[in-house]
Amino acid sequence: MSDYQTVEHDVLVIGAGGAGLRAAIEAAASKVSVGLVCKSLLGKAHTVMAEGGMAAAMANVDDRDNWKVHFSDTMRGGQYLNNWVMAELHAKEAPDRVRELEAWGALFDRTRDGRILQRNFGGHRYPRLAHVGDRTGLEMIRTLQDHGIHQGIEVYMEQTVTTLLTDGGRVVGAFGYDRERGRFKVFKAKAIVLATGGVGRAFKISSNSWEYTGDGHALAYNAGADLMDMEFVQFHPTGMVWPPSVRGILVTEGVRGEGGRLLNNKGERFMFNDIPDLYKNQTAKDAEEGWRYVTGDKSANRPPELLTRDHVARCINREVKAGRGSPHGGVYLDIAWIKEKIPSAQDHIKKKLPSMYHQFKELAGVDITTTTMEVGPTTHYVMGGVRVDGVTQMSTVPGLFAAGEVAAGLHGANRLGGNSLSDLLVFGKRAGEHAANWARQQGAGRIDEAQVSQAAKQALEPFDRPNGENPYNVQHSLQDMMQDKVGIVRTEADMAAAIEGLGALKKRASGVGIAGNREYNSGWHTCLDLPNLLCVSEAVARCALDRRESRGGHFREDYPEKSKEFANHNTVVRKNADGSMQLRREAIPAMREDLKQVVEENK
Ligand code: FUM
Repeated sequence: MSDYQTVEHDVLVIGAGGAGLRAAIEAAASKVSVGLVCKSLLGKAHTVMAEGGMAAAMANVDDRDNWKVHFSDTMRGGQYLNNWVMAELHAKEAPDRVRELEAWGALFDRTRDGRILQRNFGGHRYPRLAHVGDRTGLEMIRTLQDHGIHQGIEVYMEQTVTTLLTDGGRVVGAFGYDRERGRFKVFKAKAIVLATGGVGRAFKISSNSWEYTGDGHALAYNAGADLMDMEFVQFHPTGMVWPPSVRGILVTEGVRGEGGRLLNNKGERFMFNDIPDLYKNQTAKDAEEGWRYVTGDKSANRPPELLTRDHVARCINREVKAGRGSPHGGVYLDIAWIKEKIPSAQDHIKKKLPSMYHQFKELAGVDITTTTMEVGPTTHYVMGGVRVDGVTQMSTVPGLFAAGEVAAGLHGANRLGGNSLSDLLVFGKRAGEHAANWARQQGAGRIDEAQVSQAAKQALEPFDRPNGENPYNVQHSLQDMMQDKVGIVRTEADMAAAIEGLGALKKRASGVGIAGNREYNSGWHTCLDLPNLLCVSEAVARCALDRRESRGGHFREDYPEKSKEFANHNTVVRKNADGSMQLRREAIPAMREDLKQVVEENK
């Protein structure tokens, strides 16, 4: 029998970003015992990379805004593959969640009359993003953390969960280890909420930090849950491209929300050249109209830089490929130009975009108040994830819930910027509430020693191969391949090659080895991340190969148009008994009539 420590909670939350913290707070409010597991230190989460704000139809800046417009924008942005139950709840509940966060101490920028200020963002019809400069995600985490630590939640930092434990199909616990000393731990729980974020480290260029290796996706999949819509990966249009050491770091969409323009190396505002049909009647005809929109003129349409992320990323990609890019393989993003319009532009930029100012100054030696930035797409988010019930957030495995980026549904084929932070709050709360309800109705599950022993054995296998391949080499090969073959522009041949390549990488991963012992051994941690990265990469590649059309974040050069055949289904994968990945298309339930009308009215 393996040596391990056991801890026990009613609800275990795995992942401590916005969704995890919010779920833990809500579960604790129901007076059940809650454990919160962080892979890293508490407070270090991809949530902070949602810099520009949280979307909520509060109508503080434009009184035409309401939940119906937000719902319609979200559905259109997601190309109608969204779980419309979630999209409705999200649009209706987001304003209350933002006000609640404010009541817990979150700071926001203010309108002249003291209300929470809201800014423009891509795909949102009206200024909708409640924000504090360009540090909104950070402020959200700070607030939830400050509030959460007083709610009696037990926090386990620097822990990795490798396996979910089940009893008769129901989830009853998790097996993991502490990253400092490598000691094993079994977390007994009546309900588990996955809030582990995304899969960004499966790609070479990414805004995600080292933690985002698809852990929650793989845990759920291996426990028998469905994953849905994994073909939809979001490439944020603007990441840093230079110097190489900072490539991929996010440049917030807030820059474009404040009037930033995208230019090619001829100085052309190329975004005017390609406006998708869905947005034709809502996009500015010229630069002047775009600027009027930024300054709040209600008769003006949004500039093309504020089209949805999938489209903007592809336009940038096209400019670069056509030789119209910047010296380091991006395009130019110019906020300094607003000095033509605002006399105190330099102070204005520093006030509105303080992190961007410092980021470029410190990391690239560029003063964004006077000089253009070089930017290009970076893997930022995955729309696909664990398939959940839209109301309760329970997955297809009893007792297993998921919220935030690890859950699928809300965003459909493409997420609108700013909808992630409100997603975390709305569905973090719901997951916490329903997990607590579930836990109260369950007796304690039985932990199966055989499952624990198997998990421990698997975790230690890399030590049996001290001369095995270096795990970082396999990770880098995977990232190169995914970037190259399953990236922004996809083809049948590339993806088929990727699936074959994944087979070879799996073989290499089973031969990785590590020397030394379990203490502070980051090579060992990487060995254990690899199966998760391979699992989510396979799901992305297989789903992308199956969807023979272009929609949202999924663009096929060989099928560049949307197809009716694929308009009404989600792609779902599940693990077969023999370990292989089974894929099926599942019809999206017909939208309620009243919601159809809402969409129609807001077209
Ligand atoms: O650009 C940004 O500030 C990112 C926001 C988001 O991903 O929601």
